[in-house]
This record gives sequence, C-alpha cells and structure tokens, in this order.
Amino acid sequence: MKTITICTRYLAKLYTLSFLLLTALAVATVADAAVTGNCSDCHTMHYSQGGQALAEWGSDGPYNALLTTTCVGCHTGVNSSGGDVPFVFSTTAPVYDATGTESGTNTLAGGNFYWAANGTNDTGHNVDDLAAYDSLANESGFLAFSAAADSSTPGNGSWPAGQQVTCAGTYGCHGTHSESVMVSAVAGGHHYGQSGALTTPGTTPAGGFRMLVGIAGYEDPEWELTPTSSLHNQYKGVDDVTSDSATISAFCMRCHDDYHASSGPGGGWLRHPIDYDMGSTAAGSEVRGYGGAYDPAVPVASIDVSSVLNTVTFNDDTIVTCLSCHRSHGSPFSKLLRWDYMDSIGDGKVTGGGCTACHTSKN
Ligand code: HEC
Ligand code: HEC
Ligand code: HEC
Ligand code: HEC
Ligand code: HEC
Repeated sequence: MKTITICTRYLAKLYTLSFLLLTALAVATVADAAVTGNCSDCHTMHYSQGGQALAEWGSDGPYNALLTTTCVGCHTGVNSSGGDVPFVFSTTAPVYDATGTESGTNTLAGGNFYWAANGTNDTGHNVDDLAAYDSLANESGFLAFSAAADSSTPGNGSWPAGQQVTCAGTYGCHGTHSESVMVSAVAGGHHYGQSGALTTPGTTPAGGFRMLVGIAGYEDPEWELTPTSSLHNQYKGVDDVTSDSATISAFCMRCHDDYHASSGPGGGWLRHPIDYDMGSTAAGSEVRGYGGAYDPAVPVASIDVSSVLNTVTFNDDTIVTCLSCHRSHGSPFSKLLRWDYMDSIGDGKVTGGGCTACHTSKN
C-alpha cells in the first residue's frame, strides 16, 4: 500500500514536472515568432484616449482588430540588426547592392516595396495602399487562375478589372483568400506564429511559412537580414511540379498559374524548370557546378525543411524555385528579379546576373 502511494505521488510529481517542462518548451518556441510587448503598443480599445484619437494612430482609423494602424503602418521602416518588426517598405531607398545579400544591405528575404511604390521602375507587386494600379494584372494570359491549383484562388478563374494585389486576403498573398478584411485573413498569425521549421503547415495563418496559408518552410529568425550559407530561410520544394501544393513555388502559381515547369515532348524544356531538382540532371551537367555551399543570393529549395542546409548534396535539396530568381516584395531591378539580368555578377562571358550560379559553363 505504502509503496504504491509513494509511487503514485512520485508519478504525479513527475507528470507535473514534465507538464511544466513541456509547457515551458511550448511557450519558448511560440514566443519566438509571436509578437511581444504591451497590448497597448498595438491595440486601442475604443480608438480614443482623453476623448480623441492620437496623432500617431494616423487618420484612417478606427482599424480592424482594434489595432492602432494598418499592415503598412507597422511594416514601414528601415531594418537593422536585432529589429523585432520585419520592415518590407521603406520611405527612403534601401541598401541593396548587386544581390541584396552583401554586408551592409538592409532588405529582408522578400526585398522591399520601395521600388514599385516609388514608380522609378515598374518592377514589382503594385500592392494596394502603396503603389498605383498596374494594368499588367489584366493582360490576357498573364494571370491565369485555376481552381485546381487552389480552390480558394483569388477570383477563382478571373482577376477583376482594376483590382490591385493586396498584402493579405482575397486578392492578397498572406493569410486566407476566403476573408476580404486583411487583418481577419491573417487572424492569429501575429499572436500564435511559430518559428523555425514549419513542416506541416495546416490551414491556419499561424501554421504557414510567413503566414502564407498551407505553405511549408524553415523561417530564418532575422527574415534574412544578414543571410549566409548557414543562416537563411529554407524554402520548400518538390521534384515534380504537379505533386505538392505546400511549396513556395506552388504559392506563386496560385496567381501565376501558367508558369508550371513541365518539360515538353521528348523531355525538352518549354518554360524554365521550377520545382525540379538539379540532382535529376545527368552527372557532370553544368548546373551541378552550383557548388557545395548553399548560395543565399540564388536560393534553392528542398523537400525536407526540418532544418537549414549549409551545403547541398544534389539529393532533393537543389530544387529550382520562383525565388531562385525573384524577390516577392521587389528589388531595384525589372520584374522583381534578385539581380540585374542585364549585368554579370561574376566576370562572365555573357550577362545575366545570377543565372550563371547554376548555368556555370555559360560564365
Ligand atoms: C506588437 C503588436 C501587438 C501586441 C503587443 C499585441 N497585439 Fe494583439 N494583434 C496584433 C496584430 C497585428 C493583430 C491582427 C493580426 C493577427 O491576428 O495576426 C492582433 C490581433 C489580436 C486579436 C484578434 C485575433 C486573435 O488572435 O484572436 C486579439 C484578441 C488580440 N490581438 C489581443 C491582444 C492582447 C490581449 C494583447 C496584450 C496581451 C495583444 N493583443 C498584444 C498585434 C499585437
Ligand atoms: C501593430 C503592428 C502590426 C500590424 C498592424 C501588422 N503587423 Fe505584421 N508583424 C508585426 C510584428 C511586430 C511582427 C514580428 C512578429 C515576429 O516576431 O515574428 C510581424 C510579423 C509579420 C509577418 C512575418 C511573420 C513571420 O513569420 O515572421 C508577416 C507576414 C506579417 N507581419 C504580415 C502582416 C500583415 C499582412 C498585416 C496586415 C493584415 C500585418 N502584418 C499587420 C506587427 C504588425
Ligand atoms: C495574390 C496573387 C498573386 C500571387 C500569390 C503572386 N503574384 Fe505576382 N503578380 C500578381 C499581380 C496582380 C501582378 C500584376 C500587377 C502588379 O504588377 O502589381 C503580378 C506581377 C508579378 C510580376 C511582374 C511584375 C511587373 O510589374 O512586371 C512578377 C515577376 C511576379 N508577379 C512574381 C511573383 C512571384 C515570384 C510570386 C511568388 C512569390 C508571385 N508573383 C505571387 C499577383 C500575384
Ligand atoms: C530561372 C530564373 C527564374 C525563375 C526560376 C522564375 N522566373 Fe519569373 N522571370 C525571370 C526573368 C528573367 C523574367 C523577365 C522576363 C524574361 O526574361 O522572361 C521573369 C519574368 C516573370 C514575370 C513577368 C512576365 C511578364 O509577362 O512580364 C512573372 C509574372 C514571373 N516571372 C513569375 C514567376 C513565377 C511565378 C515563377 C515560379 C513559378 C518564376 N517567375 C520563376 C526569371 C525566372
Ligand atoms: C537555381 C538554378 C538555376 C538558375 C538560377 C537558373 N537556371 Fe536555368 N535551368 C536550371 C536547371 C536545373 C535547368 C534544367 C537543366 C537540364 O534539364 O539539364 C535549367 C534550364 C534552363 C534552360 C533550358 C535548357 C535546356 O536544356 O532546354 C534555359 C535556356 C535556362 N535555364 C536559362 C536560364 C536563365 C536565362 C537564367 C537566369 C534568368 C537561369 N536559367 C537561371 C537551373 C537554373
């Protein structure tokens, strides 16, 4: 009897201990990517203080989710080391250099909306609230939607005339397409965001890589402010464009559906391969010269995103992705390209920027 009592007590203690330990661990993981600070740093209960709205809340309020500003309001600024808000729009030109990865550059993985908004170069996603409407959205064949790619695809077949792409929501990138209010589309993303490996993204904004619903990936804690071979986002890819919708390229294809990578008759390419592993090329092929070290200027995706890969082995970890060449928020170069297509980054024979990181014999 006595032994049993002790045993039970001991067990109960053990349970409590491990429960506390697990809770602590869970909190530690979640807190890492979730917002921190006082509620009042970001929310206002009545959109009023001392009988009036504060000047710092701007003139567009009251805002959804009782916030004190908009997506753009919080995400405008200049990135610096240790910053806890990812800034995707700067009112002054960000430091980019040739690829946005050199030391001293201050854009994040997605780049910056500065160039599109500034109108110097109609170069990127002309997001509502920041940039003017770009008629490219309605050019026939440019944006083709298919319900098969994602049943909640914006417009589900057609893009409405005059519609701008938005940060989040029905016609946006972050959060769910089934909510039109942007903050509702990402609901929970800021408070319950996880960090590190997101291998089973599920269907909530918090579960997706950077609140992209259903997309897997490994999140760099600094949003790639200072990327190196060992410090970077690990993008999800697959070695068959038709088989997995959790890849970052499948995300782009929710709107740019025509850009599927499929080889034509006889196996020749008709469009640039995407979600195709360079390990599938013949031994000695030029693209295998990509190198042992992951190159953050020309990212490659992997099937396994449970960790960050420092070196690549051409074994499902050298997958071409839309982000090998593009930055989603913009760059100083045409068509959101990561580097100047009319330039040569090495001392190559031909120009083409980062193309020669993979097409090594063309350099
Ligand atoms: C650093 C900014 C920040 C701080 C601090 C903050 N919030 Fe939020 N909160 C947000 C943002 C942004 C959203 C809307 C987008 C989202 O849900 O991801 C939000 C959404 C919410 C929501 C609605 C969505 C949901 O998950 O239910 C509630 C409720 C909420 N916050 C409560 C709080 C409370 C209570 C505190 C303090 C304990 C707090 N917030 C502190 C930024 C913040
Ligand atoms: C009140 C300020 C505030 C508002 C409003 C706000 N954000 Fe954020 N957002 C933050 C902060 C702070 C973080 C950093 C949280 C962290 O540590 O990951 C963040 C992080 C993010 C991230 C990156 C999450 C990750 O995985 O690291 C995305 C994407 C994002 N916000 C999108 C949005 C969108 C879209 C909206 C509008 C619907 C929005 N935010 C509105 C403050 C805000
Ligand atoms: C929610 C729909 C949507 C998603 C998702 C989306 N785009 Fe776009 N994209 C658009 C629209 C609309 C335009 C044309 C209007 C504009 O430039 O704003 C566009 C334009 C572009 C352009 C041409 C820019 C120009 O002005 O010439 C590029 C390049 C591009 N997108 C790449 C991408 C990549 C890479 C991804 C994935 C990271 C992606 N897009 C995801 C809607 C989307
Ligand atoms: C190998 C590099 C590379 C990859 C990978 C790549 N792109 Fe591009 N993309 C380019 C270049 C270069 C251009 C500029 C036009 C051209 O030369 O075809 C471009 C142009 C575009 C345009 C503008 C087309 C127009 O009509 O103006 C869109 C949209 C686009 N890309 C989206 C995507 C999407 C979505 C993916 C992934 C499914 C992707 N790209 C993958 C290099 C790439
Ligand atoms: C991340 C690596 C990567 C980058 C960057 C890249 N490519 Fe490719 N590219 C590939 C792979 C892999 C193939 C398929 C090669 C094969 O099947 O042997 C390919 C195929 C091609 C082909 C078709 C070759 C054929 O055999 O039919 C052309 C043309 C091409 N790329 C041009 C470009 C240009 C131009 C750029 C820069 C805008 C570029 N690529 C950037 C990896 C890359």
